[in-house]
Amino acid sequence: MESIKNKIDQLRKKILKYEYFYHKLDQPIVSDAEYDYLLSQLYSLELKNKQFITSDSPTQRIGSNLIDKFKKSVHFFPMLSLDNAFNLKGYLEFETRIKKLVSNSVVNYCCELKIDGIAVSLIYERGILTRASTRGDGYVGENITKNVYTIKSIPLILKGSKIPDRLEVRGEVFMLKSDFKSLNQTNKSNKEKFFSNPRNAAAGSLRQIDSKVTAARNLMFFAHGYGFFKGMEFIKTHYDRLMKLLEWGIPVNKNIFITSSYLEIFNFYKKFEKKRFFIDFDIDGIVIKVNSIELQKKIGFNAKHPRWAIAFKFSSKEIITRLNKVKFQVGRTGIITPVAYFDPIYISGVKIRKASLYNKNEIEKFQLCINDFVIVRRCGDVIPKIIRIIKNKSDNNSKKIIFPLFCPICGSKLLEDEKEKIVRCNSGLLCTAQKEKSLHHFFSKNALFINGLGPKIISKLIKKNLVNSPIDFFYLKKDDLKKIDKIGDKKSTKIISTIDQSRNTSLRNFIYALGIFSVGERIAEKLSERYESMDALIHSTLIELENIDGIGKIIAFNIFNYFSISKNRVLVIKLLKEIRFSVNRTKQKKYKKKFFIGKKIVLTGKFVSFSRSEIKNILIEFGAKILNKVSKSTDLLIYGENFGSKFFQARQLKIHMINEEELKIFLI
Ligand code: IVH
Repeated sequence: MESIKNKIDQLRKKILKYEYFYHKLDQPIVSDAEYDYLLSQLYSLELKNKQFITSDSPTQRIGSNLIDKFKKSVHFFPMLSLDNAFNLKGYLEFETRIKKLVSNSVVNYCCELKIDGIAVSLIYERGILTRASTRGDGYVGENITKNVYTIKSIPLILKGSKIPDRLEVRGEVFMLKSDFKSLNQTNKSNKEKFFSNPRNAAAGSLRQIDSKVTAARNLMFFAHGYGFFKGMEFIKTHYDRLMKLLEWGIPVNKNIFITSSYLEIFNFYKKFEKKRFFIDFDIDGIVIKVNSIELQKKIGFNAKHPRWAIAFKFSSKEIITRLNKVKFQVGRTGIITPVAYFDPIYISGVKIRKASLYNKNEIEKFQLCINDFVIVRRCGDVIPKIIRIIKNKSDNNSKKIIFPLFCPICGSKLLEDEKEKIVRCNSGLLCTAQKEKSLHHFFSKNALFINGLGPKIISKLIKKNLVNSPIDFFYLKKDDLKKIDKIGDKKSTKIISTIDQSRNTSLRNFIYALGIFSVGERIAEKLSERYESMDALIHSTLIELENIDGIGKIIAFNIFNYFSISKNRVLVIKLLKEIRFSVNRTKQKKYKKKFFIGKKIVLTGKFVSFSRSEIKNILIEFGAKILNKVSKSTDLLIYGENFGSKFFQARQLKIHMINEEELKIFLI
């Protein structure tokens, strides 16, 4: 119970902090999506634990903290907020609730864009704008009439006929994205305030003591509702009422449509989810409202929301947060990767607290400092990436991030590839970080999998000096494993038995396990198709490797380089004594056959093991074309003893050439 109360308290504290940044400082530190997510968590916790609900909980209030510089303005009707749906399921739940409340009759819905701006209320007395206020806490807002007078798209006097004596229009004040960009540019050159998004710029512009500043900011307005509509009761739908506002000169966004089909609503949502990036103002979802005023009245409100409307929100993909630290990680191959850690954020409901900064270049490009604000996006909706930095000049603790000169793990001097901006620790297995990661990789799922041998155990085995290289695992005894805490008799027996099972492997998995730089699973597969034994791979030539389909010059060089280091060859040979391969000859045959398909081949010289016609027939059977003359379009020259001029022509034209011995590898 105590821990639930703690959880509730923590959530409340967080939410209040975010509200403070948002409302008081116009400087949100989390996205709406994260705020909504936390609030919904608090809601459900409080719902299950009603004894912990307090009157000051954020769930018991409608809105914000007011700022002190404007006069208070009491709303005639509370300005509520909207309930949210984040997916189709959530939306359909809303429809089901409505259906129940109206006894399953067909309901028409009015769909609109959800403008990401500042909610305001405008009071017109006999057609003249007399008061404008912000929403504030939903009951009391700020009187911003003087500033609203300067917004060109809000009429001071309504036009047309049959205007009610008193009319309250509700809607959003917002700033165009293009205006926001140029405002920030101007502010940057004048060393003035930077706004993190158009909504904040609009809020900042609206809450100016000096209305000349507001006037210069080109704010816009769209109406989406009304409070008083006295004398207009005969207009019986929300849509018709909005059209009436339009007639009187009040701007209403034209993307509205009426439907009773949830599929059409979902299509509208999908359409604007894509289109929103090409519209010059921010929208953060769509709003769906029961169109009939009579039904709206029947359905009613709860304490915070009308029950007849819902916001179907787009998932937010970019969020601003504060950078706390940068750690320098040493990868399996010694590459140093800076990783940024920030205040946790939620994107599409997923908690994120770090993002890779890739390389030294990225830090230099961003001129990154601790306590800067960073804008994070989930690329392809998966991998978090910092896309922009907002310098935090006001923070005295701001510290420039400096790329280390020495390995943070083993302390050896780091080497930098100037061209690729890659910084590397070259200590290999002498560096604990690389050792741990290499060993973990060697025994990972698609390598020589040892079930139950995670990074923690590996790290402990290294610390106890029981293993230093993959080969050491095959010599481990039960008693060695039992020296590690939390490993008893049962677990050590199990690990020893899985180590034994890992001895049965495939060539592909073994090649992958070696962790040769740039040889992932796909390349390992190709190598295992091309070579029938590890021995053949160890002795492969650079040309041979380069000619494997899908292996370029760089990867070929990395493979060749790996096997030219004697320490690596010794390790592989020792390992080969401990393991057994399940051979997959059909795969190799398939590869060999594939290699010749469509290739234009020329033969020259005398062959010892085959007659010329034998070779010709086999190659033709494998799909090759045998030609007599060398030309630019020749793919391969096969040369035997006493070769003739074709050999020199092919060499000049840089055509791939193999001799009889190499040909045998393909044919046998
Ligand atoms: S209807 C009871 N329609 O979204 C509130 N609101 O998150 C009825 N908003 O406070 C509001 N576009 O300021 C409505 N087309 C739209 C809207 C819209 C933006 C804002 C509004 C509201 C907030 C709720």
